[in-house]
Amino acid sequence: MLERTVCVRANGRLSGPYYLIELEAPEIAAAVKPGQFAHVRVPGQPEALLRRPFSIFKAGGGTISIVYKVVGRGTAAMAQLCPGAELSVIGPLGRGFTLPDSSGPVPLLVAGGYGIAALYLLAERAAVRGIVFMGGKSRSDIICEADFSALGWEVRPATEDGSYGEKGLVTEPVRALLERAGSRVKLFACGPMPMLAAVARLAEQFNVPAEVSADRQMCCGVGACLTCVIPVRTPAGWEYQRVCTEGPVFDARQIAWEMVS
Ligand SMILES: Cc1cc2nc3c(=O)[nH]c(=O)nc-3n(C[C@H](O)[C@H](O)[C@H](O)COP(=O)(O)OP(=O)(O)OC[C@H]3O[C@@H](n4cnc5c(N)ncnc54)[C@H](O)[C@@H]3O)c2cc1C
Ligand code: FES
Repeated sequence: MLERTVCVRANGRLSGPYYLIELEAPEIAAAVKPGQFAHVRVPGQPEALLRRPFSIFKAGGGTISIVYKVVGRGTAAMAQLCPGAELSVIGPLGRGFTLPDSSGPVPLLVAGGYGIAALYLLAERAAVRGIVFMGGKSRSDIICEADFSALGWEVRPATEDGSYGEKGLVTEPVRALLERAGSRVKLFACGPMPMLAAVARLAEQFNVPAEVSADRQMCCGVGACLTCVIPVRTPAGWEYQRVCTEGPVFDARQIAWEMVS
């Protein structure tokens, strides 16, 4: 874990409320593993003193990039940052995804909205290609499709309003594939918690392994404040674990979904 003041190299809109920021952070870029996140302090915002967690989307050439959706004050302030601005970043943080190897099951990536950002490094570094299912409410929520296609992954978009790709929830085409593919696949998912719960139910129903990256609001990001806890099954019953340190990636069977709000 490193704390660094980093310089913005580029920052701009991707689509709708989604932006891409590139930061000069060579040590974090060299250390990051797929599914890990950065904890970012946006400068000049008295209301945004606390850091904000973001998946590290890409890393290389001395930079990391983050795909972010403007949802509140912190992300709105981030959208205003110009090249040359400085901000404090802690990272890489958390426990990421297990990398698929060529002898294992075919990886199926399932993303909702900005959840796709947590899956790019996995797609890039996996020894085997599979299918990426990208979901969102409408066309503007389907982002970074070309990045995954360029890596040789098949991309299947789905939108709830049918404005792009298949109409409906992203888990429906996943279900259809599981009905055909049986147990020779593994699911990797990042998105809103209801989507992750649906992925976990599919994994259980079709008896396939699944790793999910949990989305919780965070404060410290380093295990000290317990803001981010999630109920996790244990041999004795269940316990709270910290998404920022024990996660954000968990085996889907570990999470006590019936207790997740
Ligand atoms: C491990 C992890 C990785 C993440 N990766 C990304 C990413 O790659 N790209 C991205 O855009 N966002 C990501 N997020 C969510 C991101 O951290 C929040 O959207 C951000 O903190 C909001 O900050 P804000 O100041 O703009 O919003 P605030 O003003 O703090 O809140 C605005 C609204 O967003 C909601 N919100 C705040 N935090 C979250 C959250 N974690 N999940 C869902 N809703 C939230 C609030 O409840 C409120 O309704 C990630 C979160 C986690 C835990
Ligand atoms: S955010 Fe503080 S313990 Fe996880």
